[in-house]
Amino acid sequence: AEAASVRVLCRFRPINSRERREAVEANKDPEEMICKFIDECNVEIFQEAGLGSKKYTFDRVYPPGVPQRDVYNLAANDTVVQVLNGYNGTILSYGQTGAGKSYSMFGADISDQDQKGIIPRSGDHIFRHITQQSNPDIEWSIRCSFLEIYNESVNDLLARGAEHENLKIRESPDRGIYVQNAAEHQVQTVEDIVTVIQIGDSNRAVSSTLMNAVSSRSHTVLMIFVQSTNRRDQSKQEGKMCLVDLAGSEKTSKTQAEGQRLAEANAINGSLTTLGQCIKMLAEGDAKHIPFRQSQLTRLLQESLGGNSKTTLLIACSPHPFNREETISTCDFGKRAKAIKNKVKVNATKSVKELMAIIDRLQIQIKGMQQFIGLQKTLIEWYKANCETPPTVYVPTDKDLQLLMDGKQIGVKGEEGQEGPKPEMDEEEKDQVSYGAVNDASVRIAQLQSQLDKERENSRMMKEDFEADISALERKLKSGNFEQSEQENQTEMKPSQDQSYEMKLLKAERDALKKQLKIAMGEEESSEYYYEEDEESDEKIKLIKAQTVNIGGKKVQELKMKIEEQNNQLTQLKQEAELFKQTSTEEQNQMQQQIQELKNDCNRLRGISTDDFIEDDNMDEKTILIHQMEKEMKQQREAILILKQENSMSKFMQQRVDQMSEKYVKSQAKVLELEEQLANSEIFQQVQKLEKQLSMKTQELATFNQRINISDERTAHLNQQLTEVTQQVMKLRKDKQELIQQKNEDTRKLLQDFELQKQKLQENVLSKQKIYKPVQGTNVAQTLAATNPEILAKLKSFKARWVEDEQ
Ligand SMILES: Nc1ncnc2c1ncn2[C@@H]1O[C@H](COP(=O)(O)OP(=O)(O)OP(=O)(O)O)[C@@H](O)[C@H]1O
Ligand SMILES: [Mg+2]
Repeated sequence: AEAASVRVLCRFRPINSRERREAVEANKDPEEMICKFIDECNVEIFQEAGLGSKKYTFDRVYPPGVPQRDVYNLAANDTVVQVLNGYNGTILSYGQTGAGKSYSMFGADISDQDQKGIIPRSGDHIFRHITQQSNPDIEWSIRCSFLEIYNESVNDLLARGAEHENLKIRESPDRGIYVQNAAEHQVQTVEDIVTVIQIGDSNRAVSSTLMNAVSSRSHTVLMIFVQSTNRRDQSKQEGKMCLVDLAGSEKTSKTQAEGQRLAEANAINGSLTTLGQCIKMLAEGDAKHIPFRQSQLTRLLQESLGGNSKTTLLIACSPHPFNREETISTCDFGKRAKAIKNKVKVNATKSVKELMAIIDRLQIQIKGMQQFIGLQKTLIEWYKANCETPPTVYVPTDKDLQLLMDGKQIGVKGEEGQEGPKPEMDEEEKDQVSYGAVNDASVRIAQLQSQLDKERENSRMMKEDFEADISALERKLKSGNFEQSEQENQTEMKPSQDQSYEMKLLKAERDALKKQLKIAMGEEESSEYYYEEDEESDEKIKLIKAQTVNIGGKKVQELKMKIEEQNNQLTQLKQEAELFKQTSTEEQNQMQQQIQELKNDCNRLRGISTDDFIEDDNMDEKTILIHQMEKEMKQQREAILILKQENSMSKFMQQRVDQMSEKYVKSQAKVLELEEQLANSEIFQQVQKLEKQLSMKTQELATFNQRINISDERTAHLNQQLTEVTQQVMKLRKDKQELIQQKNEDTRKLLQDFELQKQKLQENVLSKQKIYKPVQGTNVAQTLAATNPEILAKLKSFKARWVEDEQ
């Protein structure tokens, strides 16, 4: 990984009509600017009167009016090239609301040649590169995803619906930071990218503010994944381009935000503050405690800010005094970001073929070294035996080393197939030559040999582990079947199509196990790593086990037999492997010894030939012998090569196992970390608090219910009382009615009596009138009263009672 600073570019937009109006209202020059453009990298900003000015240096400063094309060329061109080469690249725009972030990233019109911004231009560049590239073996695949962070919720802009909102940001050793379940659209042309942007844009949260007619109220992140696959060896590279248009920071007092707009502004300002904090701490080098997790934005940008990405920050500013404070704070932000250094690396996966090629090369190198050492030793021996002067040792030239590396043979004197003393050795070289070199190399070979032995031992142990795993799993399977065979007598056979389904399931499980083993042994090329995967496969195993119980008996028997058969094969293979392991080391050593002896013989004979050969009668015989020996040597060398290749396979397997266990350890640590974070997190504490509140409320509810019960009883009681009272009232009413009737009856009788009496009296009076002169001015009643006061009193009292009753 190489270190790369965050690149910061500062763009000023032209003065806008609102700023002009403000200036005119304040009786100031509407065209006044607060910045002086010193050169292409330096800008000076004037503070309020009396406070002097601040100077800033950025990777580039763009004054108002710089065309979109120029901005692209510096801001994004390199990044796209890097992404095409398998690196991660990020471009993000930051600044006050209305300062020109969206204008720079998307442009006023994404389809217009002049108006379009960085994102559509990046798409152009990527597809131009792909269509122009000349390597026919490279296959390209481009995918896009488009997300927004609105009020701290990560939403998919390419898919609608509740399940595409509030997505989770996750991290895995293979993929780094990623958004779970984010839609990815495959794009074939630059027009496809434009469509993706248009779809996303129509789903985006925007509203108008006093400062910007179309203000972005969410942060948007467009990701372009550029994958290239080499058809020849299946090696892959994937670059990820992350294009971020941040929502603008704003002073809510200035924009007069209220209600939902205020909530949005607060969420935006909150995440931007966290972004600022992260940048500050990264710049200060305090890499341990960066609060990336405090906001969704910083979590998503974690790699762009503190990890594997080449990052460009475009800060957008206004040049007008009306926005002086915001412009200065934006520039301060940019200045801090410039100090961040990321570590970037290519995201490449080597194919099995590539890895094998590397191993082959290394094997050949070892072989070459051994050959070289053997030759050196022989030479020294010979010199010792034959020369009085101190022997010089051959030091290989670069060319010789290359020959060795390429697996070619070199002659005793260094050149391939060439004999005779090495001529080109100058005095200085001779001085460097020593026995030490030979010894060092021997030590190195011994080291390599012991390493090889260790690896062989490791892979043996690993193989044993795998076998143990397999037999455990097979036992599991058997025990599942056994449960079944007990049930056989009780249950009917299921229809045959069911059985074949079950058989399929069983087969799937066996395949999955085989695949696991393959992956572990490095035969399977790559396995994507998810934390959830284990849980999932556990679930599957459970399901399969549950279903296994229902399988028909015959099939179980068949399977048992099959497993038995496989077990036998396995044992046989194990025995063979054991035997092979034991013999291979010995064989190898023996062969090496033999080679050494042969070499010695060979060289001895060669040595003799240079001195005494000419007079020797047995020359032909010796030549044949040498020839034979050399042939034998070659055969044995080949045998060693094969053995070593086998060893290298086990080394490769070991590497894969190491990688996997490393991944496992990492993911375990991650899980622990996440658990700890969860326990410490505010949400968790809030949940606990809420749970406490809930239990209190439940208690309250119980008491309340009790009370309701009590009051229910009382109500029933009261109701009963009420019924009784009502009945009494009704009875009383009835009584009253009867009384009234009685009285009415009495009255009627009285009235009748009265009428009778009256009649009698009248008759009396009339009869008396005949005798006496009528009394003047009196009526009948008066007369009656005068003559009969008793009746009158009765009448009065009766009348009074009657009136009372009527009432
Ligand atoms: N460099 C520029 N040249 C011409 N016009 C510009 C420039 N930058 C911005 N504008 C104009 O200014 C207005 C506001 O710009 P833009 O929408 O890009 O702001 P923003 O920073 O994205 O704001 P917000 O944070 O509110 O989304 C737009 O009408 C845009 O066309
Ligand atoms: Mg915007």
